[in-house]
Amino acid sequence: MSQNRFYRWICLVVKPMACCSRVDESCIPARWALLRSPCFARSHIEAFIPWPEVPSASSKVLLLLAFSSNNSIPTPEPTHGQIYPGCGPPIDLPTSFRPYLIMQSYAIPSLVSSLLNVSPSGWSSMFPPPPKWSPEEMPDLGGKVMVVTGGNDGIGKETVKALLAHNAKVYMASRNQVKAQVAIDELKRETGREAVFLRLDLASLQSVKTAAQEFLSKETELHVLFNNAGSIYPPVEDVTEEGYDLQFGTNVLGHYYFTKLLLPVLLKTARLSADGKARVVHVASVGHEFVNGIDLETLKDGPKRKRWHTTKLYFQSKFGNVVVADEFHRRYADQGLVSFSLHPGNLKFDTKRHPSWTIKLLGILNPVIPGPKMGALTQLWAGTMPEGVHLGGKYCIPYARVGQAKNETDDPELGKRLWEWLEEQVRDVEPPYTET
Ligand SMILES: NC(=O)c1ccc[n+]([C@@H]2O[C@H](COP(=O)([O-])OP(=O)(O)OC[C@H]3O[C@@H](n4cnc5c(N)ncnc54)[C@H](OP(=O)(O)O)[C@@H]3O)[C@@H](O)[C@H]2O)c1
Repeated sequence: MSQNRFYRWICLVVKPMACCSRVDESCIPARWALLRSPCFARSHIEAFIPWPEVPSASSKVLLLLAFSSNNSIPTPEPTHGQIYPGCGPPIDLPTSFRPYLIMQSYAIPSLVSSLLNVSPSGWSSMFPPPPKWSPEEMPDLGGKVMVVTGGNDGIGKETVKALLAHNAKVYMASRNQVKAQVAIDELKRETGREAVFLRLDLASLQSVKTAAQEFLSKETELHVLFNNAGSIYPPVEDVTEEGYDLQFGTNVLGHYYFTKLLLPVLLKTARLSADGKARVVHVASVGHEFVNGIDLETLKDGPKRKRWHTTKLYFQSKFGNVVVADEFHRRYADQGLVSFSLHPGNLKFDTKRHPSWTIKLLGILNPVIPGPKMGALTQLWAGTMPEGVHLGGKYCIPYARVGQAKNETDDPELGKRLWEWLEEQVRDVEPPYTET
């Protein structure tokens, strides 16, 4: 191989892929370099490859992108004069150097390498065939009690609407009463039935505890719990009331605690139901396939967490949803609990609701992708159809199909470790419930 062809190969394949797939701290100097100055990045890249030897402009761009990716932004800011290993002396640059931050945020090469690892089930869930099932086929749900977290908007609102239309008693568990009331009124006009507001802020363990207590004071049965609410790509700085990463705290810890507090009523309902079951639907995402596990060091606020990008923290939280769904299944299936996770589909994002650049970029696809009504379809099928009682421990994909979550999620050791961590976090807030 000639030297030129060798460098072309290195530039186009090896270095970008290596940088894309590495999420450890060894890339930080290079990423810092790009954030501060392209010349500086170039000098770092030259430690690997002589810049004039990089064969084309596109290879150069690819290389710069690769060095800027990896889903994490290093912190803290280096002070002037500080020397970072492999980076030489720092150069002053305006802190909000948007083009570089955008490159960093969208992590194009990182995304490409992640996509290469998506499973066949993952691809099928991103590009699903037309549905063979419609919510009109749902059975009559008269006498059934259901809770939908985040039911005031998006997929959750569509879920509440269909459940109401089939006569279920539905609790809309939402953090904002004004927004929830607007949704309740709208759904009443459309279905003739009224959802019940339940105040629940999943980003506060105290609020979760209060919400569960309120529900238990009103109801003696709970047939289906839809753990649907989600914090999606907030700024990395955002944390929950107790200082957990906002996405993991809301999507995983809050939902775990809510489910655990409602477990006595779920198990009691299962005992009394004709089919002997009560269901918990954990809304995850195909994004769980873009991470390989859960790093306990990033679940509470701290320097390591701050170095991660918000998309990676989101994917980790969705990986956590699948692990927790499996663990509830392992622990309570024999008592009639049907716990499973799902990917609702890749749907339109409300770009006004979500300030993140990732959502703004994804929003470009809005005209050609389905809305929340389609997103509700899989959870409605799994949560209400008779065949749903066999979904315990499974992972569903759009539309209304059983798929396959990433293998790493189904690791009993990991499930046990995460469960123990979750239990530890809620130990102090746990109310003195006794099973009725
Ligand atoms: N849309 C997609 O393409 C997609 C893809 C894969 C997975 N998902 C998952 O599907 C679920 C629903 O997504 P969506 O598209 O319907 O999102 P959405 O339109 O942004 O709605 C999210 C819902 O969650 C609620 N929520 C957020 N933080 C909360 C908190 N701390 N406490 C209580 N409620 C909270 C929101 O309440 P507020 O109105 O008060 O903010 C809202 O009702 C999420 O779990 C998401 O991760 C969505």
